[in-house]
Amino acid sequence: MYKEYFGLKEPPFSIAPDPHYLYMSDNHREALAHLLYGINSDNGFVLLTGDVGTGKTTVCRCLLQQLPANSKVLVEVKDSGIGIPAVHIPHIFDAFYRVPGDLHGSGLGLSIVRTIIEAHGGEIWAESLSGKETTFSFTLPKRQNRIRNKSDSAAEQA
Ligand SMILES: Nc1ncnc2c1ncn2[C@@H]1O[C@H](COP(=O)(O)OP(=O)(O)OP(=O)(O)O)[C@@H](O)[C@H]1O
Ligand SMILES: [Mg+2]
Repeated sequence: MYKEYFGLKEPPFSIAPDPHYLYMSDNHREALAHLLYGINSDNGFVLLTGDVGTGKTTVCRCLLQQLPANSKVLVEVKDSGIGIPAVHIPHIFDAFYRVPGDLHGSGLGLSIVRTIIEAHGGEIWAESLSGKETTFSFTLPKRQNRIRNKSDSAAEQA
């Protein structure tokens, strides 16, 4: 509706910012260079910080575009909960598996998550310090670059 009414070539709003329109200010250029340096040196980590809405996600999407086609992205989520005893770690992604004594849930959540991640060509695993914390990690292959077209815009909005 907006497109036709305002004569736009593509939808004006999307959930994920489009790196295609990134204005490369000096700060954005420096941030991107640091991120690329961090990845290429394969050592340590790089932290990208900035005020709300200053383009962090847009820069990251621009970074993803510059990575080689066969790259994988690693996401780690760490909690500060009660941990998972080591003996259960190999089984927590099995369907209907529940840590004995845990009466919550059906034991299907992590199994579904693993199915989704693997269906996208990634891997998922967990590490835990019992009584302290658990870290869930997953990889996903970088989306292959495609020519921008209508179906891309639709997919990005989904
Ligand atoms: N340098 C830029 N060039 C073009 N658009 C930009 C730039 N910086 C920010 N924007 C636009 O501003 C909006 C917010 O950008 P973005 O989501 O990347 O910011 P953010 O720092 O990740 O925000 P948040 O702190 O909320 O996570 C987006 O619509 C994005 O396209
Ligand atoms: Mg953001």
